Amino acid sequence: VMNFKIFENEDTAANYVANILRKQMNDNPTSTIGLATGKTMVPIYKQLVDEIKEHPVDMSQLKFINVDEYVDLDPSNKESFAYFMKEKLYSQVNVLEHQSFIPTGSGEEAVKQFNEKLEEFGTPVLQLLGIGQNGHIGFNEPGTSFDEGVHVVNLSEETKSQNKDQFADGNVPTKAITMGIKDIMKSREIILVATGQHKANIIRELYDAKVSENFPASILKEHRMVTVVLDKEAASEL
Ligand code: GLP
Repeated sequence: VMNFKIFENEDTAANYVANILRKQMNDNPTSTIGLATGKTMVPIYKQLVDEIKEHPVDMSQLKFINVDEYVDLDPSNKESFAYFMKEKLYSQVNVLEHQSFIPTGSGEEAVKQFNEKLEEFGTPVLQLLGIGQNGHIGFNEPGTSFDEGVHVVNLSEETKSQNKDQFADGNVPTKAITMGIKDIMKSREIILVATGQHKANIIRELYDAKVSENFPASILKEHRMVTVVLDKEAASEL
């Protein structure tokens, strides 16, 4: 079941999601939480940090795992998702190195390491997701088999051009490593967030879509607990 929740603006949507994340951490203090990066997540992590500072949570036994990362970007690279997570969340709320994992590297070794971490950390109680304008979740591009696990992907031209502004020189890496749809679907609960007018079209399509591998996010309709959190702009075509 896919529940749609619409908020007045990006900040009220982020506040709702930050609250859920904090509550999960508090209620399941030894669990694993699946996280995501991208512009949509910036206000969410900001509010989460503020909330945790205001109402402290024991985070010492929690584990965090991210859905995806560009291939061959060193974690010290400011454009990497690893850097993003550290800067926006982990360093702010004292999540230690061993408590979090963001995939890194490329090829078979990287896939193996990601799978081992998924195994070690265990199935997330909650998976946070954004959505690409072509309907991708994580970096599962249209056409990816729903049975695919962790894999390295050649990014589509569309995805590269959408993420261009996150790279100083405009050169987006051509490959990424991502959890597969199969991995994402295991999570107990999923929250997909989309904000801004540029997401209105894909959200309308998601609402209407039949489940199809040509539209990766459509698989979420088969998950038992999915909430799609939107601001008014992203919901403007519903
Ligand atoms: C990116 C990432 C996703 C992210 C999505 C939306 O390409 N692979 O993990 O959730 O696309 O990004 P944004 O929030 O910047 O629109």
